[in-house]
Amino acid sequence: MGLLAFVSSIPHTETALLSLFVIVLASIAVVQWFKPKLRLPPGPVAVPIFGNWLQVGDDLNHENLSEMAKKYGEIFLLRMGQRNLVVISSPELAKEVLHTQGVEFGSRTRNVVFDIFTGKGQDMVFTVYGDHWRKMRRIMTVPFFTNKVVQHARSHWEEEINSVIADIKADPDAASTGMVVRRRLQMLMYNNMFRMMFGRRFEKVDDPLFLELKRLNGERSRLAQSFEYNYGDFIPILRPFLRNYLKQCQKVKDERLILFKGFVEERQRETKVNPPSTDEKCAIDHILDAYKNGEISYDNVLYIVENINVAAIETTLWSIEWGLAEIVNNPDVQKSMRDELNSVLGPGVPLTEPDVPKLPYLHWVVKETMRLHMAIPLLVPHMNLHQAKLGGYDIPAESKILVNAWWLANNPEWWNKPDVFNPDRFAGPEKIEANGNDFRFLPFGVGRRSCPGIILAIPIVSLVLGRLVQSFELLPPPGFRKVDTKGHGGQFSLRIANHSVIVCKPIN
Ligand code: HEM
Repeated sequence: MGLLAFVSSIPHTETALLSLFVIVLASIAVVQWFKPKLRLPPGPVAVPIFGNWLQVGDDLNHENLSEMAKKYGEIFLLRMGQRNLVVISSPELAKEVLHTQGVEFGSRTRNVVFDIFTGKGQDMVFTVYGDHWRKMRRIMTVPFFTNKVVQHARSHWEEEINSVIADIKADPDAASTGMVVRRRLQMLMYNNMFRMMFGRRFEKVDDPLFLELKRLNGERSRLAQSFEYNYGDFIPILRPFLRNYLKQCQKVKDERLILFKGFVEERQRETKVNPPSTDEKCAIDHILDAYKNGEISYDNVLYIVENINVAAIETTLWSIEWGLAEIVNNPDVQKSMRDELNSVLGPGVPLTEPDVPKLPYLHWVVKETMRLHMAIPLLVPHMNLHQAKLGGYDIPAESKILVNAWWLANNPEWWNKPDVFNPDRFAGPEKIEANGNDFRFLPFGVGRRSCPGIILAIPIVSLVLGRLVQSFELLPPPGFRKVDTKGHGGQFSLRIANHSVIVCKPIN
């Protein structure tokens, strides 16, 4: 039977359907033909629907991504379901993303979970690059990120670490079997930030309000950093299966905002009775001024409080905890720190914030801690709103860009024995700082979306570690040679996996 005869033998409706099918196929072919061919970065071969997800799995931590960089190079592409994920592993390309093309790559990716916690980008950390971000960053700078703020807050930081030292000395076990110092340091970090933010502190580690705050912030971190919800993020048609997970996120988010609102209102009641002078204002007073001027909404105020709770407190605490573990595990380093403190300040003279710049060895210890154990090893993911070029490749719009800052700071090609904790590596003439003056060392990122909190984090970490070393001989618990420094990674965070017991023998 000829083709004409075959077609004329098909009933009318079926002919119509067949024609439609042929037209659709032809249109797809035409679109594909004329669509500009993208030159995508290298990467493993992707399969339909799942992309590379089934090959590489969920745990895209800094170490796994470093291994892949050895195979695929300084820039590679992973297709995680519908999402494009571009991983950057060289200082040159990091410079391109964060500095040269900082505007193009200056946005943040969104996902269903972060959308809940940030009210779809009403905050500052996770919002796209644009007017809202600029306004939020400006409004947060005066109350948090200036030298004047440091000068105002530093006596509080000194009080807080002195109070920690007094509490450790009062603990009958601390000098013998040891204690989990981290538990007390956590309250120190909350107090440092809550004094800056609200002019208030927590007295006791078992204060119910403090416990509730810690619980909710812990839940927020767990839910947001987990890999459990990847499937709904990578393959949108699977999102209905995330319903329960998202419900939990919504509940934690609502409870946190109510709690934060309570702190804001408490401060508002106080300042109504006793209006603060310009010098007495704390961060929330400035932020509420911006709200009253109509610059931001009340929700924006609460999301700023949310951002400080996650971005400032945990990251700094993790760095302190890791620094402490390395000081315990490296008695020579501990001794060199103590010798420097004794010789620069004099034995028994407590370290204060203005002394920190006079203590280079202490500074190297802090930088070495942040090099080996980066709290945010992949930075906060960046994103390009529009199609862009990087390293000669086409980067599709809305790709998630991970800069593997940990690998940049731990690549044996340019770091000698990178897995060894050696503060002296920073003694060289290169003067590598944490502020991004060298693209091999970016613990705070660099450029437009870099961490503005560096101005607070470095002196706080230095002060806490320095004062502890001045006050105690810090040792592993009886029967152990070292404390555990294993890490636990999340979507883009890294913390110590186990909170170790540390023996603190007072130094007279
Ligand atoms: C050791 C402590 C800290 C570390 C390691 C750290 C690290 C980082 C990193 C890597 C980023 C992302 C940079 C990028 O995406 O390019 C970031 C962003 C940010 N950090 Fe920190 N941070 C620390 C402490 C703080 C503190 C104390 C504050 C506030 C008081 C803070 C506030 C922020 C904010 C608001 C952002 C978002 C900036 C933006 O998107 O424009 N951080 N931090």
